[in-house]
Amino acid sequence: MANLTINGKVQKTDSPDDTPLLWIIREELRMTGTKFGCGAGLCGACTVHLDGEAVRSCQTTVKDAGNKKITTIEGLGGKHPVQVAWVAEQVAQCGYCQSGQIMQAASLLSKNSNPTPEQVVEAMDGNLCRCMSYVRIKKAVLRAAADIRSRKEA
Ligand code: FES
Ligand code: FES
Repeated sequence: MANLTINGKVQKTDSPDDTPLLWIIREELRMTGTKFGCGAGLCGACTVHLDGEAVRSCQTTVKDAGNKKITTIEGLGGKHPVQVAWVAEQVAQCGYCQSGQIMQAASLLSKNSNPTPEQVVEAMDGNLCRCMSYVRIKKAVLRAAADIRSRKEA
């Protein structure tokens, strides 16, 4: 039995230590905001945070998650600056990749709230979007960064 802290709540699981975190999140806890894309660490649809770091939950085991704080898209709460910017820039098309994109962007901006466009592209590079919304993703990340900076100055 392992205890996982997800979005501030302790969740128990009986699953083996090598079970992918994505399975726990989606299948056991029914938190379906985190998506299954490739299951092989290649698309970023399953991105969550472990202690604030963006990780692929399909490649992260229960054991890896250990005592770390896990945050999923549900844990951002809907009013996170990245989510606000995503709506303002109307980023989503089919939406399937979007929670992973948002989690990746939120992790970047928690460490660097003034990224260059090139740094944004580099940080978001592993998150694929079959709808090709990359231009709007970049605009939204830069918009969220400006919002975060203005909140810090206020
Ligand atoms: S589902 Fe995890 S990287 Fe694609
Ligand atoms: S919005 Fe459709 S895959 Fe990205």
